[in-house]
Amino acid sequence: MCMFSENMSKDIREVLLTEEQIAELVKKLGDEITKDYKDKNLLLISVLKGSVVFVADLMRAIDLPCSMDFMVVSSYGDSMESSGIVKIIKDLDISLEGYDVLIVEDILDTGRTLASLIEILKMRRPKSIKICTLLDKVDCRLANVEADYVGARVPDEFVVGYGLDYNERYRNLPFVGVLKPLVYTDESK
Ligand code: IMP
Ligand code: MG
Repeated sequence: MCMFSENMSKDIREVLLTEEQIAELVKKLGDEITKDYKDKNLLLISVLKGSVVFVADLMRAIDLPCSMDFMVVSSYGDSMESSGIVKIIKDLDISLEGYDVLIVEDILDTGRTLASLIEILKMRRPKSIKICTLLDKVDCRLANVEADYVGARVPDEFVVGYGLDYNERYRNLPFVGVLKPLVYTDESK
């Protein structure tokens, strides 16, 4: 169990995934991806900012030559709910032709962000396109999209840590935890 100070963990109701559990999940995903992409031309696309911690660990668990690029899209009208409208804030630098694209996400919730993103990226003619998400809130899906690689399923609760934020905070927690509802109900007053 992580010995993080009270400063950071006082707003967490419950730890869902410890640092050690996350490391195991990442290793397992890395092994699977290494096996599946052996003869392919892998390009990891990290959707910033939430997936930055995950992709940094995941890429080092993949034992293959691979490229990476970043994208920033906005889908959230406010910090808690998906609006369904995806706007590209920062586009990729790399052209997708000839690449086997693996989109790396922090969490798949309604799926609206990824459903729209996939449509946009498909038009750029990659060889293939798949999704790897660390967390999957399966019960929340509204769009027709599923991940090909999933680290762990999580309940329908607002989680933070390991890259995931609430109002740009908590990304630096080394574990994934459920935020105390008091934090967001207090701030919205
Ligand atoms: P979707 O379009 O509803 O699937 O939203 C996906 C995006 O919303 C994720 O990439 C996160 O940035 C954000 N998100 C969804 N659920 C959570 C959560 O529980 N904590 C923090 N961010 C979340
Ligand atoms: Mg995200």
